[in-house]
Amino acid sequence: MKTYLEFFEELDDNELTHRLVNKNRKPKGPPPIPKLLPPSEKAFLRAQDDSRANFNFTYQAARFEAGWLLNSLGGFYEHQWISDVLRCVKGGKEASVYLCRAGAEVEADLIAAKVYRPRSLRNLKNDHAYREGRDNLDDEGKIVLDDGKLHAMAQRTAYGKNLLHQSWIAYEFTSMQALHAAGADVPRPYEMAHNAILMDFVGDETGCAPTLSEISLEHGEAQNLFGRVLQNIDLLLANERIHGDLSAYNILYWEGEITLIDFPQVVSPKTNRNAFSIFVRDVTRVCEYFAKQGIGSHPRQIAADLWTKHGHRLAPEIHPRLLDAEDERDRALWQKQKNMR
Ligand SMILES: Nc1ncnc2c1ncn2[C@@H]1O[C@H](COP(=O)(O)OP(=O)(O)OP(=O)(O)O)[C@@H](O)[C@H]1O
Ligand SMILES: [Mg+2]
Repeated sequence: MKTYLEFFEELDDNELTHRLVNKNRKPKGPPPIPKLLPPSEKAFLRAQDDSRANFNFTYQAARFEAGWLLNSLGGFYEHQWISDVLRCVKGGKEASVYLCRAGAEVEADLIAAKVYRPRSLRNLKNDHAYREGRDNLDDEGKIVLDDGKLHAMAQRTAYGKNLLHQSWIAYEFTSMQALHAAGADVPRPYEMAHNAILMDFVGDETGCAPTLSEISLEHGEAQNLFGRVLQNIDLLLANERIHGDLSAYNILYWEGEITLIDFPQVVSPKTNRNAFSIFVRDVTRVCEYFAKQGIGSHPRQIAADLWTKHGHRLAPEIHPRLLDAEDERDRALWQKQKNMR
């Protein structure tokens, strides 16, 4: 596990100060700067205007984490989306999630800030499977069309990698916007910055809601929630999205309700050639969890039915990897699809 100092050292100045320094206004005087901050962060802190320099949070962050939070969340504070950072609720593989007190601009009392790790720490090994057939988005969620930027991304220059990192975050935010508007059980997204997303907090002041993977369900409730998750998968597909990393680890449970989270790797069922395999894997993982809760099902059949319901063609060439030759229903499914060709 790297320290925040190491995080900072891997960032270039451009990334660190990106869109955050107000160049037109002279700072009234530098705020006190901790001795050990790396030079780029010192420069960044000196250039803060007063409102951000006054952003002190309840959460007792380690020094470098504090700098990291100030950089990632300072804009939200300035625009009164948040007024305080109360605690770190989870340090995930790709991001840390902080419980924040909402600012005057938000009706809710609590709000979640998902702050991404620097792109250099992301596990990008299997990125291409998700990015296949997917446009890259900029920091406003718009498709990147600029030749220079497209070239930088294709060449994987440092700048290009930053753009790809941004695109990943923009996909999470814009997907949540679309899915929330469509009525899916996802946190309401509020705002996106270059490195963070603000959304509804699921839980209370004492901490975040558990994930399904952390709890066991009574049989009746398991049955209901299984139906609810499938409805969400169906709704996602109707909105031309596949979650891409769906499992009991990315579904929160709170007061009898579920909330799907963690959307950066969404894929389109129309443009991604891996879409059906990714979809089957999502459905299978969900079914596996509910099977442990006593609800049996046939995931490949469910996936195939939902897929065809939304007018997508099944891709028979990927069957040998997906279907179980020993399973009678799989063999029937395989036969049905061969007849469809
Ligand atoms: N809106 C939210 N409200 C409450 N808790 C949340 C919220 N979003 C995320 N969390 C908590 O933070 C954890 C990490 O979030 P998320 O899964 O989005 O990030 P991640 O870095 O991709 O995590 P992982 O790699 O562990 O899947 C979640 O498992 C959950 O416990
Ligand atoms: Mg997750």
